Amino acid sequence: MGSRGLLPALALAAAAGLSPAAANDLGDQTRGFELFKRQCSACHQIGPDARNRVGPVLTG
Ligand code: HEC
Repeated sequence: MGSRGLLPALALAAAAGLSPAAANDLGDQTRGFELFKRQCSACHQIGPDARNRVGPVLTG
């Protein structure tokens, strides 16, 4: 389903030790990735090998 570009970003989040239990005032990044996958990845990609799809790359 073209979610290839999300995997490196998810790996980075895991390497940083981010999890729902570690959520802080800046927000819950793990939950954000889940929401992004469900609601945004149909049109947007993120990550080092992301490519513009229906919408532009949102890396960063
Ligand atoms: C149905 C396809 C679609 C979905 C789903 C979608 N977008 Fe977009 N998005 C677009 C398109 C197309 C553009 C470019 C609009 C333009 O340039 O006028 C865009 C532009 C953007 C931009 C501006 C990027 C820039 O560099 O200007 C952001 C930020 C963005 N979307 C975030 C999101 C987020 C967050 C979600 C999920 C909650 C999401 N989008 C879901 C199609 C989509």
